[in-house]
Amino acid sequence: MQSTLKTLSIGLAMTGSLFIGNVATADDDGKKLYNAKLCMTCHGVEGKAPTIPQYPKIAGQSEVYLLQQMKDIREGKRANGMSAAMKALTTNVKDAEFEAIAKWLASLKSNAASPGKPIGGGE
Ligand code: HEC
Repeated sequence: MQSTLKTLSIGLAMTGSLFIGNVATADDDGKKLYNAKLCMTCHGVEGKAPTIPQYPKIAGQSEVYLLQQMKDIREGKRANGMSAAMKALTTNVKDAEFEAIAKWLASLKSNAASPGKPIGGGE
């Protein structure tokens, strides 16, 4: 059931439809929060299209990793590179909201230009 819903929402996203289903899933919440908290203004649509090259693509990474980075940046524990830009906009994002966003982002496929293969083949 869960995977059917995912397939359905991916299908809808791909058609570019503005249809919003009646069934609220955790994934939907994450997506809504991602947009409501303005994450997309830097990380782009579905975390795949950063608005400047210095901003990271965040779709398709591990949920645990994503969540940890969000908290670290908000709390100033990660203060490298351009993380200050993000910190300013995340001070009022709650842990539960980050969790929903991380879950949703992790469920997406990353669109890295070249997925990369292990050195020496591996096939
Ligand atoms: C003002 C632009 C901006 C906004 C808004 C923003 N971010 Fe970021 N985000 C960044 C930048 C820049 C980095 C990379 C920081 C660095 O250089 O270390 C980053 C890093 C991240 C990372 C770590 C990525 C990695 O690969 O390590 C995650 C996860 C993330 N952001 C999620 C979010 C979420 C969720 C939101 C919304 C609540 C958000 N960001 C809002 C700019 C932004």
